[in-house]
Parts: sequence; structure tokens; C-alpha cells
Amino acid sequence: MQAERAALPIAAYKEELLAALRQYQVLIVEGETGSGKTTQLPQYLLDGGYRSICCTQPRRVAAMSVAARVAAERSVALGSTVGYSIRFEDCTSEATVLKYLTDGMLLREFLSEPDLASYDVIMVDEAHERSLSTDVVMGLVKDIARFRGDGLRVIIASATLNASKFCDYFDGAPLFSIPGRRFPVDILYTRAPEANYLDAAAVTVLQVHASQPAGDILVFLAGQDEIEDLEEALRERTRGRGSELGELLIAPIYASLPSEQQAAIFTPTPAGARKVVLATNIAETSVTIPGVVYVIDPGFAKQKAYNAATGMESLLVVPISRAAAVQRAGRAGRTQAGKCFRLYTKWSFTHEMEDQPVPELLRSNLAQVVLLLMSLGIDNLLAFDFVDAPPPETLLRSLELLYALGALSPAGKLTKRGRRMAELPLEPLMAAAVVASETYGCTEEVITICAMLSVAGALFYRPKAKAVLADAARAAFARASAGRGGGGGGGGDHLALLACYNQWRDSGHSTQWCYENFVQVRSLRRARDVREQLDALLDRVDVPRASVLDAGDGDLTPVVKALTAGYFPHACRLTKAGLYRTVKGGTTVHVHPSSALYRSERLPRYVLYHELVLTSKEFMRAVSEIEPGWLREVAPHYYTEQDVDVAAASAKMPRAVGRRS
Ligand code: CDP
Ligand code: MG
Repeated sequence: MQAERAALPIAAYKEELLAALRQYQVLIVEGETGSGKTTQLPQYLLDGGYRSICCTQPRRVAAMSVAARVAAERSVALGSTVGYSIRFEDCTSEATVLKYLTDGMLLREFLSEPDLASYDVIMVDEAHERSLSTDVVMGLVKDIARFRGDGLRVIIASATLNASKFCDYFDGAPLFSIPGRRFPVDILYTRAPEANYLDAAAVTVLQVHASQPAGDILVFLAGQDEIEDLEEALRERTRGRGSELGELLIAPIYASLPSEQQAAIFTPTPAGARKVVLATNIAETSVTIPGVVYVIDPGFAKQKAYNAATGMESLLVVPISRAAAVQRAGRAGRTQAGKCFRLYTKWSFTHEMEDQPVPELLRSNLAQVVLLLMSLGIDNLLAFDFVDAPPPETLLRSLELLYALGALSPAGKLTKRGRRMAELPLEPLMAAAVVASETYGCTEEVITICAMLSVAGALFYRPKAKAVLADAARAAFARASAGRGGGGGGGGDHLALLACYNQWRDSGHSTQWCYENFVQVRSLRRARDVREQLDALLDRVDVPRASVLDAGDGDLTPVVKALTAGYFPHACRLTKAGLYRTVKGGTTVHVHPSSALYRSERLPRYVLYHELVLTSKEFMRAVSEIEPGWLREVAPHYYTEQDVDVAAASAKMPRAVGRRS
């Protein structure tokens, strides 16, 4: 390992880097991915006498894996002198002098220590990714660098993409370039656009495996679902052909993959076999996978998009930028000459792709950022020095939303409720639901649901051979609480998640129970961890704990009401055509196939959803029935009588008529 370290491109520049940092307070360091910035630079700082260093990462997985790697390089236990901190998981101790943490966690540290006085060096890593939190961290760090003066050193580390932009932003800070070592990468395009890029990716993997010399393959996909689909397709097509083709080892990597399973991508491939890593764009720059010679790039990634006019944020699969395509191809040439198969045309690369990715800050709902900045005392957001200023209408929208949630006063000042919301590392709607749960006496249930929502994407599994059983087990969770959430029943996904968690808890957190109910045990364990963290945080904001399940007769109405008190901007009404439209804005949205309501015979008149995903259409993920009257009850300033015309609506609806008779 020490020999490997010494051979990294950055190693030759250790002394120069330290000298530059003695001279300049802010240093921009650019170097090709894999040159050693993330793992080595903070260690050089330790060797150079700095005492307390933090290094931000846009991704949880990267923070954990890099900290583990550095701890191993220094032969120390992870969590001792070298540790990491990510949301809901702190692996540091009193002894920690080098901490890798997500950019979001560093933002939260500003809340408890506005000048970050406990650090003598702050390294903002992967700055080129321009994640939302990274951009905000840069704004705040620029500010504190001014008044902390010589007591603070700042490093902005970036892949070789547009780094001069950061020099300008940090008032002409010097740029330190680490020359890369790269082998040539042969780029191949498809002749015509691919109709189905997943299928094309599977075919290309098999062609490379059958015809190309040894070397691992890296495929870039847009998300966990695509990774799982391709994994299954590849397993099917190679089954029983190991002796003919040589073994093909499949290793997935994406942000929510448990760390034990991520290790597979770093294990060396045995002779005679070939590894194919199926990755999201996490492998573009923040995780380096050894041994890759072939890259397959379908040219897509999942991205957040925000529409300030409707206030809706959604995840969608979009074409990547040329800069990202170049990064992806570069992953094939790290250790020897390689090949990159682009599953799009050369014309598309030159004419259709954007030059650079759009910074996340410019395509996000900024309510959470605004809440955080305001609780740091930054009231004039239009004057805040962002690397790229967000559109003023997005800022206004955020202020309006925070006002609607009761986080801001009519004068635009943070309220007590807003301060409590800011203390919770949750997006504002969820934070508002948690704070409101105090009023409804159901904090225990609401934080369980929040914790479950944070793992809901990877909670249930559905093996093809047992699909019927798996569906039945899932439906049982929805039934367990049906009819217990208010006049309308509160049926849907939120109470089903609550039932699932509580049944698991009552089984003594049994693994067997998880098998029988087709629930992923590690997702539940993670939900339990998240829940414990939330529980501890509630102490900090003085929210007393109460449970309607313990106290009452099993009526869960207060739980659904508390959720409505947070998620009311996500309320939708059923139209006569059997479609849902958002109550505000009137956008058409659909129930996601994973929802308990998807196969429901009776669609509720009013629902609220947790989040939207845009694929072929706008899908609501995690949907529950609500009573329209609650919207006026929890948000009279947001919904008018006309918005929620209860009487008129119920007269038209057969179910309501039925209830009257
Ligand atoms: O940050 P940068 O892309 O410049 O490089 P790095 O992440 O510090 O990686 C330097 C070297 O450490 C690479 O050769 C990686 O393969 C290796 N590394 C590793 O083996 N395991 C990790 N978890 C991270 C990096
Ligand atoms: Mg790095």
C-alpha cells in the first residue's frame, strides 16, 4: 500500500503543496481523478503539522470508503484518528484529527459552530461536481475565511474540469495543477441512436467479454433500478456459459448500496475471470475502481430538476454533458490503454450534449438551504455570494414555502418553529411534519414513518419466482392499518410503512420475520438507526415524545394529520377521469406502481404524496389518503375554501354519498 501511495501522481508534489498552503490561505487544487487528491492531500496536511482537518464529499459512499482507505493506509482503526461523518452516522471520536464528511454534514456543523473554529484546514473536495451543498459550503467558507484569517486554510479540490472558475470565485486564489498520467482511450460510437440503451449495454458487455483481451468493464447507468435490471439480464444471458466465456463477475455500486457489498468492486479480479462493475455516476469521479480497461457509457444520468413555476421537484433521467462523457471515458485509461464504448452517436456527442453539467443549486428547490442560511443569520439571500446565483424566483418560491410551513413570520423572520425545523437534518416538509407531530401527540409514529421513507426505495424485494407471495406480504402491511387513519381511512403507503416497522420491532427485530415478509433486513436496520438519531435530535429541540398507538385506541388519524401538516403542499385531488391533479397548480400526477394504492379498487378523493419521480410521467412515490377538510385545518393560509371545495366535491363522489345514506 505504501508503494502504491508513493507512486500516485500527487506524491511528487507533497512539499510544494505544503509550501503553497503556507503562503496562501485558499488554494485550488486540480488533478485528474485517481491522482490522489482525496486520499493523500489530507494526509500530507497531517504530516505538515496541521491538527484538525475535514474533507467534504458530495456522496455518503465516498466519505465512508475513502475514510476506510485512509485509515488502512495509516494502519489505524476507522473512527480513531481518521473517521467519517455522514447523516445519521458518526464514525469519529475525541481522537479524530482527519474527518471525511458529506458536504451536507459540514453545513450542519455551521449551525453549532458558525466559524468552524475546530478545524484548521477545510478541504472542499469534488468541487467540480457542484452539488447543492458543496456550493453552499463554498459560499460559507469564503465568508469565514475572511474573518478567521491565518487560523484557517482552505483547499478546493476539483477534477480537471473548469477549475479556474473557483480561482475567480475565491478572489484570484492560485491554481495548483497536478499533471495527470493517462493512457490513450479509444472512443467508439454507435452508428445510429439506440432505442433501448439497457439492452444495448447488455449486448456490449457480452461482446467485450467474448472478444476483448483481459480487463474489467465499467458500465455507467442512471440508477439502482437500471443496475438491478442489467445485473439480472447479464446473469440470465451468461448462466451456464462460464466455462465457454470465462467467468463474468458482476459488482454493482450506487449510493444506497450497503458498504459490505461495495467492497466487491475493490477486490482484485481472479485470473481468467472478468469483472463488470455496474455503477451510477458515483464512479465518474468520486470512487476510483482499479483494473478498469473498458468503459460502456449509455450517456444518461439521473438528475434532480426543479420547476419554480409549479414548485415541483422531480428526479429524471437526462443526457449527460460532454464534460461528464469525457470523465467517464477517462476511467478506461488509468492503468493501461483502454476503450470506451459510447452508446450514442458522435453527432449526438458534438451537437446534442451540453458542454458542462448544470450546477445542482440551479435546478433544486432551495427551501432547505434557505432555512439553513436564515438560521445562520443570513437574511438577505439575494445578496449571498453564490458561485452561481440561483434564479431569484427560486429563492422567492422557497421563502413562500417556508412561510406556508410556518418557519417564517409574515415579516420574513425565522420563527421558533422554523428554528426547530432547521435543527432537524430533514427536508422542510418532513421537518414540519415532525414538529407538528407534537401537537397531534404522535411523534413516535411520525419519526418511524420518516425513517422508513428514507429507506423506502430499497425496502421490499420481489423475487420473480415468488412475486405473488411478496405482493401479498406487502398488501398485508397496507391492510394492517386500513380504516384507522381518519374518516377516509388514511389508507396508503405511510401507515403501511409504520405497520411494517412496528411488526418487525414486535418480532424482536427478527431476521426470519424479514425473510417471511419479503423485507430487506438491512434497510430496516438502517431505518432503526435513522430513527434513533432522529429521536436524539428531538431532545435538542425539546419535542416531547408521545405515541398514539401506546396511548389511544389504535386510531391513527393524528398521524395522518401530522403528516398533512408537513406535506400539505403535496396534496392532490382525484378528477372525474380518475386522475390526480395537485390541488395547487393542477399538475397531473400518477400513483407510482410501487404504491399500495396502485392496485386499489377505490381511489381516494384526496391524497398526499412524499415525492415525485419523473420517468415516462410524473409519479407520486409514497401516497396516502387524507380528508380534504384537514387541508384547511392545517394550512388555512395556503388553501382557500375554493381550493378545497369539500361540499361540492363530496356531492359528486359516490363514496361520500354512500356514507351519507
Ligand atoms: O481524489 P483523487 O481522484 O485524485 O484520487 P484518490 O481518490 O485519492 O485515489 C488515489 C488512489 O487510491 C487510487 O489509485 C485509488 O484506486 C485508491 N483508492 C482505493 O484503493 N480505495 C479507495 N476507497 C479510494 C481510493
Ligand atoms: Mg477524489
